[in-house]
Amino acid sequence: MIDQLGNFYKSWDRNIELEGEIPINDQLKLESKYNLPWYQFNLPDFPLAEILSEVKATKDLFVPHRDSEGNHLWKGICLHGLGKEKTMCPEDYGILEKDAHYSWTEIADLCPITKRYFSESYPSEAYHRIRFMLIEPGGYILPHRDRERKGLRGPLSIPLTVPDECHFVVENFGRIPLESGKGYLIDLSNRHSVWNRSNEDRYHIIAEAHYKKGYNDFLKLIAQSGMGRLDEDEKITYSAILKKLGL
Ligand SMILES: [Fe+2]
Repeated sequence: MIDQLGNFYKSWDRNIELEGEIPINDQLKLESKYNLPWYQFNLPDFPLAEILSEVKATKDLFVPHRDSEGNHLWKGICLHGLGKEKTMCPEDYGILEKDAHYSWTEIADLCPITKRYFSESYPSEAYHRIRFMLIEPGGYILPHRDRERKGLRGPLSIPLTVPDECHFVVENFGRIPLESGKGYLIDLSNRHSVWNRSNEDRYHIIAEAHYKKGYNDFLKLIAQSGMGRLDEDEKITYSAILKKLGL
């Protein structure tokens, strides 16, 4: 197992290099025609310090997550989902997705600021799982793909802590330069891995948002606050989006 991890990191533990221009209008369709490995955007008013306090206060309640891909140091807990300790997909518990009933768990009661952020600030009215994830020092997630279909679809990721010696590494690209408190969409069809070689806990939120009326606000959010290296295109793109949305 550790050989597999070591070989993957030997190849891809380097700064990410993206070549050429990436037309933002096409990113905003959230399709990966350009094979974009990730997209970063700002989360206005994200209460990072308060959420970090809440997540640390619940650490003892975390349970091991997907031990076959990691070691027992990869853990999680659900604020919203099928149950506080049901950190995996419904199918892993013998439940069909169509029969899954998602709701706030008792962890949300312990974390009122986090619950309020997702209920009142983030532009989604419906969620499947919202999880706090933790990789303790020495923990790792073995290289894997979560899906076959390419694209920036999938859950919202929010790093809460980003230890220096802990990287999210993507095959054929390299390290994603994660920042605490920012939002990320990641193409999880690329093989990826995380390895915490630091002495600090690595906390992260993964939220499966299902946008209804909030989808337009979500598009505006990512258009207004997208990755810095796309600044020059941002105005044009934002106008294009507003036009498309009829605003
Ligand atoms: Fe994954």
